[in-house]
Amino acid sequence: MADASADRGDGVAVVLEDVRKTFGTRDARISAVDGVGLVHEAGSVVALTGRSGSGKSTLLHLIGAIERADAGTIRVGGTVVTAARRAELAAYRRTIGFVFQRFHLLPALTARDNVMVPLVPDRRRARAAAARADELLAAVGLADRAGALPSQLSGGQQQRVAIARALVADPGLLLADEPTGNLDSSTGTQIIDLLLELNAVYGTTLMIATHDPALAARCGASIVMRDGRIAQRIEGDGG
Ligand SMILES: Nc1ncnc2c1ncn2[C@@H]1O[C@H](COP(=O)(O)OP(=O)(O)OP(=O)(O)O)[C@@H](O)[C@H]1O
Ligand SMILES: [Mg+2]
Repeated sequence: MADASADRGDGVAVVLEDVRKTFGTRDARISAVDGVGLVHEAGSVVALTGRSGSGKSTLLHLIGAIERADAGTIRVGGTVVTAARRAELAAYRRTIGFVFQRFHLLPALTARDNVMVPLVPDRRRARAAAARADELLAAVGLADRAGALPSQLSGGQQQRVAIARALVADPGLLLADEPTGNLDSSTGTQIIDLLLELNAVYGTTLMIATHDPALAARCGASIVMRDGRIAQRIEGDGG
């Protein structure tokens, strides 16, 4: 992989204490996350597994401050996400990367422009931002497709663009929600290779929700969720 950034920050630790999130009204409440505690060391990789509806996505959304926890504490690096005010949360969100199952690229923008989206728009720095986007696209093996629209790219290529976008602001933590869920198995393997390589090269902390046993087996550890709780933690040797 090309060295996309020499000054990239190190991975950050993630610590959760008794985190809870319910959805719905009084009559029909769903405890999506029901008292989760975990310590995830800086620079390590964990797979979140468990059947559909067990709370994997909700947990990632809480950690990424896409949704707010009802109770408990979430600490990511130096930020107490659960105590942060709006301005601090906005700054925090720029320090983490999110990769989704359905890529979520903007269809009218080229790969390069999609990667530049998270960078705060600033005309004077547009050239630097484009150069940075090109570095990241090279790092994910798409140097020659920077000008392509998402519709002109394969699923695996689109997910590579999404990963480049997630990395453009040098996150200390990358949250991935079923990143291989829409890909065939050999393309999925390439995406896993890429994520683990990013972790190895930059030390980016990774949390990956997945139904893919092959992906989970390659992570340093797996957390099995059931009904919003951690049912089991499996330590592996990764690789
Ligand atoms: N915005 C929401 N409103 C109401 N209920 C929700 C909402 N988001 C999630 N839920 C519920 O919370 C529970 C956990 O959902 P979540 O999406 O976290 O599960 P998951 O483990 O990611 O499942 P999957 O493997 O299918 O992606 C489910 O019962 C789901 O229906
Ligand atoms: Mg999910």
